[in-house]
Amino acid sequence: MTTPTIGKMSPSQVKEVTTQFTYGTWRRQKGWSPLQVVDAEGCYFTDASGKKYLDFSAQLMCVNLGHKNRAVIEAIQQQAEKLAFIGPGFATEVRAELARLLTEVLPKGVNKYFFTTSGTEANEAAFKIARMYTGKSKIISRYRSYHGSTMGSIAATGDPRRWAMEPSGKMAGVIFAPEVNCYKCPLGHTYPGCGIACAEYVEHMIANESDVAAVLVEPIVGTNGVLIPPKEYMPRLRQICDARGVLLIADEVMSGWCRTGKWFAMDHWNVVPDILTTAKGITNAAIPLGLCATNEKIAAHFEDHFFAHGHTYEAHPLTLAPAIAAINEMKRLNLAERAAQMGAYLGEKLTALKPRHRSIGEVRGLGLFWAVELVKNQEKKIPFNTGEDKLAGTPLVVDRVAAKMMGEGVYIQAWMSHFVIAPPLIISKEEIDRGVAALDQTLALADAEADA
Ligand SMILES: Cc1ncc(COP(=O)(O)O)c(C=O)c1O
Repeated sequence: MTTPTIGKMSPSQVKEVTTQFTYGTWRRQKGWSPLQVVDAEGCYFTDASGKKYLDFSAQLMCVNLGHKNRAVIEAIQQQAEKLAFIGPGFATEVRAELARLLTEVLPKGVNKYFFTTSGTEANEAAFKIARMYTGKSKIISRYRSYHGSTMGSIAATGDPRRWAMEPSGKMAGVIFAPEVNCYKCPLGHTYPGCGIACAEYVEHMIANESDVAAVLVEPIVGTNGVLIPPKEYMPRLRQICDARGVLLIADEVMSGWCRTGKWFAMDHWNVVPDILTTAKGITNAAIPLGLCATNEKIAAHFEDHFFAHGHTYEAHPLTLAPAIAAINEMKRLNLAERAAQMGAYLGEKLTALKPRHRSIGEVRGLGLFWAVELVKNQEKKIPFNTGEDKLAGTPLVVDRVAAKMMGEGVYIQAWMSHFVIAPPLIISKEEIDRGVAALDQTLALADAEADA
């Protein structure tokens, strides 16, 4: 087939060339039939036929300010004119200004920055820094987690996306702790009688493993189901890490940037990690940027020790300018407060669905970060599908629900047996009503397959 140039392809040619020559991620390639998107603005995106979709998950939980934020666009345009690229060994105004702003919004004390171009790379940097600083090698992660796709970050990923790389295709030295999941505790406990056994077990692991450099957590687990720890968990984990000389790494790639009703999820417990990684919302996802932020003790270590890490695109000026604009926009819009308020509204609406649908196991969330977990059996909390189903290419109930919602003009992220509902933080009540109504209608499909 001859390929016409940009602007001249028909929708079917766009789809054909895309699927023939490029990879679709985390899937079998056969049967991939991506929708062509031509525009996106505010809480909506538009396909090639002109149909508009409410973006109820902010794409990959990353477009926190909504699509086409003007300030972010202009920052990219102006920086491209001014200084699109200079090597990371130079100082730039844009780098200095972003660093200054980050000291204002990140948890206090995490104030030395390494800029990457993704969340994955931010975590890779964190692992190397933790190992170089402590002189130890093991990383404790948790089963229900995602930390990225490279050989280090996939090794630290607890969910089934890691399995293809087992055992030799991944960084050695990551071990897994049980996740916090008060809906379905992996240790079979019930909060609060559990005494936060999932945190205590981490101490047991550190005590019996030796050579542990760091404990890595998504403070509020994202893709794997918006799992929110009870209030005692994070302070206890901090105590355990301090007592044992182990670093605490908070992966706030998804939970950061006002998503949960605070600048960062760790702010809910006033716990400061030693290393904080983030990406996604930092530029409103308009340009790829990640951040690995460390505390002053770690920073001091590298005054006299070789910092054995770097990228050509580290601190790339074009990636930093939109981050400044995005942070200023978040401040201007009081986005954390707004997410808390609108999140309470979204939570009320989603929670009201539970008694109406026997396929809903639990609704949970914080800020504008919610999960609706589907079950085949409410009493036994049996999910419709599992990681095995996902990898085997079995059609998932959640995917069928999500596809039907797309038909209704609402986009929602589905994973295994739950949805992650995390719209742009500028969403209105009317838009929330519309998204929840579409879910309400579509869940009949799952109800029909749930045990009576
Ligand atoms: C918690 C978390 N960490 C890391 C990553 C990887 O970030 P990226 O896709 O920017 O490499 C993601 C991506 O979804 C994430 O949700």
